[in-house]
Amino acid sequence: MRAFAPTLLLFLSLTIPTIAYDFDSQKPFNHPSSNNDDRIIEIERYDDEQVWRIDWSGYGEKNKNDIMEMVDLFDLDVWHTTRSNIDIRLNSNQLKILQDIIPPEAFKPFIQDIQSLVDETLFSIQDYDEFDISEDINQIEEEDVDEVEADKGDVISIFKSLKKKKKGKKGKKGGNQRPIPKPEPKPKIDPFNLTTIETPYHDKFHSLKEIYKFGSELIKTFNHSTSINSSSRIIVEEINIGNTYLGEKLKGYTAKINHKRSNSIVRANEDNLQGLELEFIIQAGSHGREWVGPSSALYFLHHLLLRATSEPNSDAAILLKSFRFTIIPQINPDGYAHSRDKSRLWRKNRQDVGGKGNCLGIDLNANWGYKWRSSRSTPCSEGYGGKEAFEAYETKAMSEYLSSAAERGNRVRAFIDLHSYGQLFMFPFAHSCDDFPPDAEMLMEAGLGVAKAMRTKQGQGYEAGQACDLTYRAPGDAIDYTYGVTDVRWSYSAELRDTGTYGFMLPPKLIRPTADEITAGLMYLAKFIYALEVNPP
Ligand SMILES: *[C@@H]1O[C@H](CO)[C@@H](O)[C@H](O)[C@H]1NC(C)=O
Ligand SMILES: *[C@@H]1O[C@H](CO)[C@@H](O)[C@H](O)[C@H]1NC(C)=O
Ligand SMILES: *[C@@H]1O[C@H](CO)[C@@H](O)[C@H](O)[C@H]1NC(C)=O
Ligand SMILES: [Zn+2]
Repeated sequence: MRAFAPTLLLFLSLTIPTIAYDFDSQKPFNHPSSNNDDRIIEIERYDDEQVWRIDWSGYGEKNKNDIMEMVDLFDLDVWHTTRSNIDIRLNSNQLKILQDIIPPEAFKPFIQDIQSLVDETLFSIQDYDEFDISEDINQIEEEDVDEVEADKGDVISIFKSLKKKKKGKKGKKGGNQRPIPKPEPKPKIDPFNLTTIETPYHDKFHSLKEIYKFGSELIKTFNHSTSINSSSRIIVEEINIGNTYLGEKLKGYTAKINHKRSNSIVRANEDNLQGLELEFIIQAGSHGREWVGPSSALYFLHHLLLRATSEPNSDAAILLKSFRFTIIPQINPDGYAHSRDKSRLWRKNRQDVGGKGNCLGIDLNANWGYKWRSSRSTPCSEGYGGKEAFEAYETKAMSEYLSSAAERGNRVRAFIDLHSYGQLFMFPFAHSCDDFPPDAEMLMEAGLGVAKAMRTKQGQGYEAGQACDLTYRAPGDAIDYTYGVTDVRWSYSAELRDTGTYGFMLPPKLIRPTADEITAGLMYLAKFIYALEVNPP
């Protein structure tokens, strides 16, 4: 292997003062726009950017550290790391610099045209009640209404004004507007008819509004459902664990089967489980651009409730009698909305952290308070972990929900954090492999079973292991905290699909298969815990 480290350090010390400004890629609207019509929402474009994959399988710790140091120094956007490679988003300037440093045989373009994949995902995101816009538009054309103002954030208005330009009223070639939505027919089955898992809801990425509408429909459909039998009823409730930086509610949904509990229900070998209701928490959406996690969390709860109500003696019904299942489908609503509306590749929350150059946001998965340490990255980096642990409103709220479990009469027994991409199922710790969990052997055994259950479902390979080993070591991870501080034995972080072909821009047709396989994995895990701790042989 080539020793590139000395060259790198020399190079960096020579170039940083002059090029630093170029790397400030998070400045809002940093792309020169030919469009000074501010009625059009500016959408960040990625025309000059590619994802490059560096094969670092032959590198020792020292050289990996050098690359990560460069990532911090230039605030580069790392998409994914494994033992063998690292995927980084680069513009042409950044690329030129790295090409001088990294041996060419280890460095190849992985996603050449980010923008076209981004366009694909943005084409399909309008809400159901906006499917009618083609009719509205035609009407407007007939009436020849002159002034159609595009309101901020209003897709219909944008659509109308784009349509108007098409009619020849001096259309400007704006670089940064939302792609024109393809007119889609209204789905035949009502997406909010939750009596079937076939609902087309699970084939689309949704706005926050529709995510929470799905939640309300779950409650309407399943709360107090009597289809099991009259003495044990399903309870489904909305919870609110706090607020985001921008004041959005952090909503969750929690479900269990209410029944008279006998003291022998929890026969775990640990005395302190006695009499407490075990809680199984699934959190998704920490990173705004990772859209398939939230979809999968909703699908999981929907599956569980459907199965428990249609088959009274199913695994789902048994599990719902032993565990309270809680999903927080969107722990970073501000970042998610920003990813949908402005910057598809936005990762962090939207907190003002007093960064230079208007850079905003904290990486929620670098802000949890177990062995937290500050990194060299700046607020302009997608991996910025904040000035201190739990500076982010969202991690703080979730940690408070975890620590108030006893007050709710719960003992949190499992915590699953859904991310994408990479197809991994990982147990703690992430910050270091020297910190070895006492339960590692069991966590690995269950993790391997989960990976197998997932593979069996759709044929996709998932790898199980310790987070620090399968990815690059990083402090501030959610599962390090849940395991290391709040003593949640079954703490896992999942990287869902894919392995990099689409990365974060997963096509909608892969939502359902992804959700289906992680649901199989989580059902396996819950049954594993049940067999080991709730109802041991
Ligand atoms: C919901 O879907 C089911 C199954 O497709 C159907 O039988 C039922 O009539 C639908 N309910 C409503 C209210 O549309
Ligand atoms: C009804 O619920 C009770 C209490 O949970 C349970 O003991 C019984 O087996 C259930 N009956 C059926 C048919 O599921
Ligand atoms: C669920 O059903 C129970 C019993 O009908 C009711 O008391 C409760 O308010 C319902 N909860 C929600 C969130 O609708
Ligand atoms: Zn993530």
